[in-house]
Amino acid sequence: MSDAPIGVFDSGIGGTTVLKSVQELLPNENYVFFGDSANCPFGTKSPSELRQIVKAATERLLERKVKLIIVACNTATTQTIEYLRETFPEVPFVGTEPAVKLACDGGWTQILLLSTEGTAHAPRTEELIHENVRPGQTIVNLPCLGLAEAIETRDLTKIRENLKENFKNVQNPEEVEVVILGCTHYPLAKAEIQKFFPKAKLVDGGEGVARQVKRLLEERGLLNPAKKRGEVEYFFSKREE
Ligand code: DGL
Repeated sequence: MSDAPIGVFDSGIGGTTVLKSVQELLPNENYVFFGDSANCPFGTKSPSELRQIVKAATERLLERKVKLIIVACNTATTQTIEYLRETFPEVPFVGTEPAVKLACDGGWTQILLLSTEGTAHAPRTEELIHENVRPGQTIVNLPCLGLAEAIETRDLTKIRENLKENFKNVQNPEEVEVVILGCTHYPLAKAEIQKFFPKAKLVDGGEGVARQVKRLLEERGLLNPAKKRGEVEYFFSKREE
């Protein structure tokens, strides 16, 4: 049993979509959310830059005595989760990966995977596709340049322009059956993305992360026994304008 908070980090507001899913399953836990806006976007960083960034984010959360850390970012997870586990062997980490398995298990045939450049080109993403795709299924792996940053600005005009540009070469959008939101910022633009793929179901990895957090805390006897809703502390690094 432990009332220590669960740490969550991302390059900015995207990680709040994962936090929401985890809070739904574990409402009585306390959380510390770190949005590393100064380093947004993660999606264009080199693997070595990313390793430095996630190490520093982990250290900031550990200063706040967190009992587990959620990497609420597909880019950081696909490229650095192994490095984090090696560097901080005493810390339980839960990563966020594109929900490729969920989409493939659902039996759809036309699948579109949206993510940052970093995630789209990560060997782990290739591996996820390779491990899960079945005969007859097509997965289009589409990096969405600048989309996480546009969402970070919360400017709807910018978001719409960005989506139009990123989706301009998608063949037969009306035939896409499932869209994997492979960046934790994208659920914040779900309604706008849906307009381009009217028949598609939009899926993300949030619920899977929540189940994994619960499982790990149970296994280690670290669940919070509190009977009331927990608290969330948010802090952000400052973005230079
Ligand atoms: N929200 C993150 C992700 O899931 C990172 C977006 C970015 O900063 O490029 O990939």
